[in-house]
Amino acid sequence: MTSPAAANVVELTGIRKVFRQVLAPQEGPGMLARLFSRPPPAAAGAPGASRDEPGADAGGVEVLSDITLSIAHGEFVALQGTSGSGKSTLLHLLGLLDRPTAGTYRLLGRDVSGLTDDELSHLRNTALGFVFQSFYLVPYATALENVLLPGMYSGRPQAELRASALDLLSRVGLSDRVHFKPSNLSGGQQQRVAMARALLNGPALILADEPTGQLDSATSQEIMRLFAEVNAEGCAIVLVTHDEHVAAQAGRIIRLADGRITSDSLSPAS
Ligand SMILES: Nc1ncnc2c1ncn2[C@@H]1O[C@H](COP(=O)(O)OP(=O)(O)OP(=O)(O)O)[C@@H](O)[C@H]1O
Ligand SMILES: [Mg+2]
Repeated sequence: MTSPAAANVVELTGIRKVFRQVLAPQEGPGMLARLFSRPPPAAAGAPGASRDEPGADAGGVEVLSDITLSIAHGEFVALQGTSGSGKSTLLHLLGLLDRPTAGTYRLLGRDVSGLTDDELSHLRNTALGFVFQSFYLVPYATALENVLLPGMYSGRPQAELRASALDLLSRVGLSDRVHFKPSNLSGGQQQRVAMARALLNGPALILADEPTGQLDSATSQEIMRLFAEVNAEGCAIVLVTHDEHVAAQAGRIIRLADGRITSDSLSPAS
């Protein structure tokens, strides 16, 4: 059961991830459905799903090895490492988008290994928020409709959700764009919509994979200011970045190499 009193939002113990075969990339057009809806029963063979059940054929590539890690409520962690070091794989595990091959993941004090896909979807959409380099907004939906996407999991009345979504859009500076579609918004504005969407259900943890990767430096700074504000209000953040300036804004920097944690330290700026 979820334990609100748990000291840590995340506790990983001895996590391993082995890909038994090369699969379609985790990210891509199917990501939106994976984020906000329950995976279909056939998902085990779908692109992006892993075929890595223990007991399957030996071999495969171990992309995460012996990851043991706790993240406290309200921490701001930057995750760094060279391309292929396993950052996105780790973020997907944290985001309940994939399951580890071995090890234990406790999210908000709750071991997630025995949860059904429905329970995982519910937990993902209530406890977590996601922000990605490529925004993952629904192209035919307005900014407001995009922000409302995780709302169905909240159990809150529609009118209240709509009021929250409008508040969040105002907070990210988009009051005058609520009925715009993503194609009529700049990259920075689209990322603001994604931030507002990540916040709709009041998550304990936001997972961000290169959220400033497609933005110029001024726009990146605006997005980082929003992350800092959200963090100051108590939301924990794990943010993957190649950018040292961005990483320096986190309180803690974890570095991965070849699927292992090689350093875990307080940021010099903190
Ligand atoms: N769906 C998949 N099927 C098979 N192997 C995968 C899959 N996704 C990732 N990998 C492998 O896992 C390793 C880690 O990939 P990952 O995407 O986590 O790296 P990353 O640190 O996020 O890299 P980048 O900085 O380029 O985004 C790579 O060797 C990659 O080839
Ligand atoms: Mg990656």
